[in-house]
Amino acid sequence: MMRLEMPRYMERFGSVKIYSVQRVLELTGGLSTGPAGKLPGVINVSRADLEKLESDIAIIVPVKDENPKVLEGVLSGIPHESFVIIVSNSTRNIVDRYRIELDMVFHFYRLTQRPFMMIHQRDIALADALTEAGYPYLLGEDGMVRSGKGEGMILGLLLAKAIGRKYVGFIDSDNYIPGAVNEYVDVYAAGFYMARSKYAMIRLKWPYKTKFVGRRFYFRRRGRVSEITNKYMNMLVARVTKFESDIIRTSNAGEHAMTMELAERLYYSGGFSIEPYEIVHMLEEYSGLKKPRFADIAKHSIEIYQVEPRNPHIHEERDESHIPEMLKVSLGTIYHSVLADDELKKRIIDELVARKALKPGEEPPKPRIYPPFYNVNAKKLLDSLQANSDTFAIAGL
Ligand code: GDD
Repeated sequence: MMRLEMPRYMERFGSVKIYSVQRVLELTGGLSTGPAGKLPGVINVSRADLEKLESDIAIIVPVKDENPKVLEGVLSGIPHESFVIIVSNSTRNIVDRYRIELDMVFHFYRLTQRPFMMIHQRDIALADALTEAGYPYLLGEDGMVRSGKGEGMILGLLLAKAIGRKYVGFIDSDNYIPGAVNEYVDVYAAGFYMARSKYAMIRLKWPYKTKFVGRRFYFRRRGRVSEITNKYMNMLVARVTKFESDIIRTSNAGEHAMTMELAERLYYSGGFSIEPYEIVHMLEEYSGLKKPRFADIAKHSIEIYQVEPRNPHIHEERDESHIPEMLKVSLGTIYHSVLADDELKKRIIDELVARKALKPGEEPPKPRIYPPFYNVNAKKLLDSLQANSDTFAIAGL
């Protein structure tokens, strides 16, 4: 049994419903039959329900040059029944880091029989496979899938579609705490349990990003990039509703999950802008300002849940130069939105210049947009990779 707070309120933008942040109350809340199982304002999800939902989830793990031991820890935290899809963009010159990752994953498979699929993002076999399947958009000028976290995630989504999973979730591969990973997947399942619409998304808000400072841990409440992106995302929301709001707290949520029915109908952007762009896109398309491409979504509505897990987020800290870049691409999704007015654009530029992420006179980059993969023949992609790819591996299906 997992026990969570019920969301305290919800804001609605046309067909998009965004729920306020809910906290996990108990990771293992005992049996539902006791008095705690009947408390108002609390959602109880039984272990049986969690496990059933988890067996319908594919977990996509993007990897780029992470420590294989940390990746192994991540795998150990993902429930056995959730199919794992690893998309790696690790370097292969001098030392073939992909080969090392693959060996580790196979070794882990021999010990656990946990089902998985794995591919290198820059595999040349993807050129024909994606073209035949009807999704060549990920390919760059060199004929290979572009580098970038978003591109790796979209590739993972296509593979999840190929195996017919009902839900998809993402977990970063640089997470040091397998117990946190385990909680994230439980939270995804709890979110799908709560959802009433077949178009649902669960976004995680890390309670703390934890750093080791001197001789002790320091629990930082606010992420460096995410606080700023949230501020501007909420300003974008205010442009739609004419009411200020602070409902959006998960603009940069790398850890998030969706129903496949929603995932295959969304537009995406590349690199580190993928997570904020999902929100921008849903607001642009489904807040009632235009005729949406998928009318059925507008009919059923999109439900976005934001959940704060219990485990702190302890992950690989990149060097500081990574931060302005992430901020620039994140705010670029808001800046280039049709919903942004001149005043908001000016504030974004001022913020980025003040943080030395932009030079005066520059604009943030326009996100590269990828269309929905609703019509893609994902099975064809899988068959083609199985026949022609040197890096593709699959076991346990
Ligand atoms: N396949 C693939 N391809 N994976 C990648 C690539 C790529 O080009 N680039 C990075 N990754 C993987 C990393 O190995 C890691 O597992 C994950 O994507 C996140 O990348 P990091 O470089 O570690 O980013 P971060 O930890 O600073 O940022 C994370 O948190 C942000 C919120 O604060 C990411 O999840 C961001 O997307 C998120 O916005």
